[in-house]
Amino acid sequence: MGEPEMSEAEWKEGLEGVVAARTALTHIDGQAGRLFLCGYEIGELAPAACFEETLHLLWSGRLPTVEECDRLRARLAARRELSTPTRQALEVAAAQRRSPIEALRLGVESLPSVDGDEELRLRLAAGLPAIVAAYWRLQNGQDPVPSDPRRGQADDLLHMLFGRDPSPSHVRALDTYLNTMADHGLNASTFTARIIVSTQSDLTSAVVGALGALKGPIHGGAPGPVLEMLQTIGTPERAELVVRDLLDRGQRVMGFGHREYRVRDPRARILSAAAAEVVGGRGNSLYELARSVEKVAEEALEQTKPGRHLKTNAEFYTAVLLHELGLPAELFTSLFAVSRVSGWIAHALEQAAANRIFRPASRYCGAAPRPWVPLSKRPAA
Ligand code: ACO
Repeated sequence: MGEPEMSEAEWKEGLEGVVAARTALTHIDGQAGRLFLCGYEIGELAPAACFEETLHLLWSGRLPTVEECDRLRARLAARRELSTPTRQALEVAAAQRRSPIEALRLGVESLPSVDGDEELRLRLAAGLPAIVAAYWRLQNGQDPVPSDPRRGQADDLLHMLFGRDPSPSHVRALDTYLNTMADHGLNASTFTARIIVSTQSDLTSAVVGALGALKGPIHGGAPGPVLEMLQTIGTPERAELVVRDLLDRGQRVMGFGHREYRVRDPRARILSAAAAEVVGGRGNSLYELARSVEKVAEEALEQTKPGRHLKTNAEFYTAVLLHELGLPAELFTSLFAVSRVSGWIAHALEQAAANRIFRPASRYCGAAPRPWVPLSKRPAA
């Protein structure tokens, strides 16, 4: 066929193990279950920092000073107010009953175009929570709550969604969630963003493309089904029955397994601890149920896929934490985007700074060369 056949050794389904970019953002040790953001262990950073600190870290490579953090918070806050075209786009989406993640994609496309990369990245990071909150209210027949420029991203997101002051412990828990999910190597949505930027396309296109990738049920769409599964299980005693039934029917247990980790995803521990804090000592919580389901599911998965080490991933406790915060399941994927947009932008900057267009090869597995037959001479099928 002209080109030499590629050997099986060179062909990696799903690009597993292929190094496709250099990054100074996230380091994942999948065997030890450790994750570092710009050198900081995620377990130290996520429960302590506010989301603005993580944004600063990812975008500049270092943690901010108090003044820098305050300035970034104020700059984001000043850009959370939605423009009329965005509000109108969301109203149209609500009338069409679009899902929150589709409305988020439309909302991002409607953000005003601006000069300068720095302004654009601030508008994107500030715009996402404002769009998510406004759309949720419009969908429920309520007026959007204007953003409050004195608040940080996590605080204002809860305020714009529910129209009241969130408790400090809920703001802390949401900051922890946003930090935990901010970046994670070349996951599907981040890789999508980098591919788009590699063509010298713009940052908004990269974020819109990344949203499309995130939406899929085995990436950012997993926590909704996790919550459904937990609600179907209902009580710890039914966990074994429901999980085994899923596996017997060849289905995936959502919230388990990860391409990079062969142990429990380190983000699961952080999100589980945050959920425990939110729940306090309250009995009969989803958190309590999730702990039982985790044990049963890991054992069942080990029996069904021995040696594959399918352990709890971040999305399992994302569902639990966001539910315990009173956030609706329909918003789970959009809330993931509010966090991950920080990483998408950071990767876009990295890609643009040392760019080479992505153009992997494919392995041809179609028909052997054959002669062309004109339409009039082709035999009837
Ligand atoms: N439940 C049951 N079986 C599973 C699961 C699961 N959760 N995950 C993987 N497997 C099985 C596969 O069916 C496959 O079996 P096979 O070899 O007999 O065909 C084997 O384990 C290997 O699975 P792959 O799909 O090759 O693993 P991969 O690394 O490609 O997939 C993924 C990782 C997509 C996360 C997968 O584990 C999955 O679908 N999990 C459920 C969805 C989920 O929780 N997604 C959230 C991921 S975290 C995030 O995106 C932030």
